[in-house]
Amino acid sequence: MRRRSVLAAGAAGAAALLAGGTSAEAAPLAKTAAQAASAGDAPWTSASLRDLAARIGLRVGSALIPQDIETPSYAAIAGSQFSVVTPGNAMKWQIVEPARGSYDWSQADQLVSFAHANNQLIRGHTLIWHNQLPAWLTAGVANGTITSAQLMELAHQHITTEVTRYRGKIWQWDVCNEFFTDANPSGIDQANWWIVNAGPDIIPNAFTWAHEADPNALLFYNDYNIGGEDGSNAKFTAVYTYLRQLRSQGVPVHGVGIQGHLDTQYGWSPARLRQDIEQYAGLGLKVAITEADVRTFVNNATDQVPTDSLSQFAQPFEYSEMLKAALAVPECISFTVWGFTDSDSWVPGVFAGEGYAGIYDVNQQPKAAYYALQSDLALAAHGAPRRVRTYTPRS
Ligand code: G3I
Repeated sequence: MRRRSVLAAGAAGAAALLAGGTSAEAAPLAKTAAQAASAGDAPWTSASLRDLAARIGLRVGSALIPQDIETPSYAAIAGSQFSVVTPGNAMKWQIVEPARGSYDWSQADQLVSFAHANNQLIRGHTLIWHNQLPAWLTAGVANGTITSAQLMELAHQHITTEVTRYRGKIWQWDVCNEFFTDANPSGIDQANWWIVNAGPDIIPNAFTWAHEADPNALLFYNDYNIGGEDGSNAKFTAVYTYLRQLRSQGVPVHGVGIQGHLDTQYGWSPARLRQDIEQYAGLGLKVAITEADVRTFVNNATDQVPTDSLSQFAQPFEYSEMLKAALAVPECISFTVWGFTDSDSWVPGVFAGEGYAGIYDVNQQPKAAYYALQSDLALAAHGAPRRVRTYTPRS
C-alpha cells in the first residue's frame, strides 16, 4: 500500500516530462507493461535503475569505496543497479601519491576492475581539489620548499600521470572541484588553497593537461550549490559565466557536474535546476548530476530513522525532482548518487544529527527514494529525450 502511493506520486510528477510524445525505444516497454498490467503487476517494478535508464541512453551511477564492494551483498547491488562508478576517494591525490614520487593505485585499480567486470563506465574524481591533498604537498607549500612555479609543475605531473594511467578507461573526469564561493555575488574563491598557492591559471591549465593526456575523456568542472539550491542563483551565475569564458578561450572543458547534495530543511527549486541545466547545455556543455543525496534529521547515526514524518515524503520527492530535471534535458548524460546506502553515506559524519540521505537504508533495503527513481525512469522511456552516445566502448 505504501509502495503504491509512492509510485502513484512518481507517475503524476513524471507526466510533465512525458509531454514530448513517445519514442521508438519506448514501444516494446509500453506493450509489455500493458500486458503485465492486466496480470496485476508491471515489469519495471523488478527492473534495475541502470536498465531502465539505458532505454533513453542515461547512465545511473554511484560513488563507491573499495571496502564496501568487499561485502558480497553490497557489491551485488552496486554491480546490478548502476552503470557508472565514481571512486569516492580512491582517485584523489592524497590516496594515489601518499609519498612524493611513490604511487599507490591499488584502490583505484580495484574500482576500475569492478566497473569493467560489471560493464560500467567510470567518472574519475577528482584531479584538482583543495581537500584530500597529500601531506607532503601541503607541508612543502607551507614551509616554502615547494614554490608556486613548482606547485604548478607538480600539478601538471599529477594530472599527466593519473590521466595517462587510466587513458581510455575514464568516461568523465572531474578535473577541477569546488573553486567558487557561496557568497552573493559568487566568484572564484580567492582564499582557495590552489588560487592562493598556484594562481588562477591552475584551472585552465588543469583542463589543458588532462585533455593532452586523454583526448577522448569528457572533462568536467564539478561543484555544489550550482543547481537551484540557492535562491539568488548567484553561484550558478558565477560558474556559468566562468565556463562560458573558458569555452570562448578554447579551454577543453566539456561538462559541468552539479553535485546535488540536498537537505530537506532548506528550500530548493527543481524548476531552477532544470533551467540551470538548460543554460549550461546552451554553452555546448554536457551536464552530470554527480553526487546526489538528500539528507534530513534522524534519531541516530546508526539507524537513521527520520525524526520528522514529513521528511519521509520530502526525501524521495527531492530525489525524484532532481532526476526529472535531469531527464528533461538530453545534454544531461548521467545521474550519480554519492553512495547508495545510508550506512556508507558521508552525511552522518559531517552534519550532526542528519542522515537518511541515500536511496537504500542501513540494511541495504531500497527506500521510497529508490522506488521513486525507478518509476520515474520507467516513465521516462515513454518520452523523455534520448541522450546522444558520448563514449567509446572499451576494447
Ligand atoms: O583513510 C582515513 C583513515 O585512515 C582514518 O583512520 C580515518 C579517520 O577519520 O579517516 C580516513 O580518511 C577519511 C576519508 O574520507 C576516507 O574514508 C577522512 O577522514 C574523511 O574526511 C574523508 O571524507 C571524504 C570527504 O570527501 C573528504 O572531504 C568522504 O569519504 C567523501 O565521500 C567526500 O566526498 C566529497 C567529494 O569528493 C566532493 N564533494 C563533496 C563530497 C562530500 O564531502
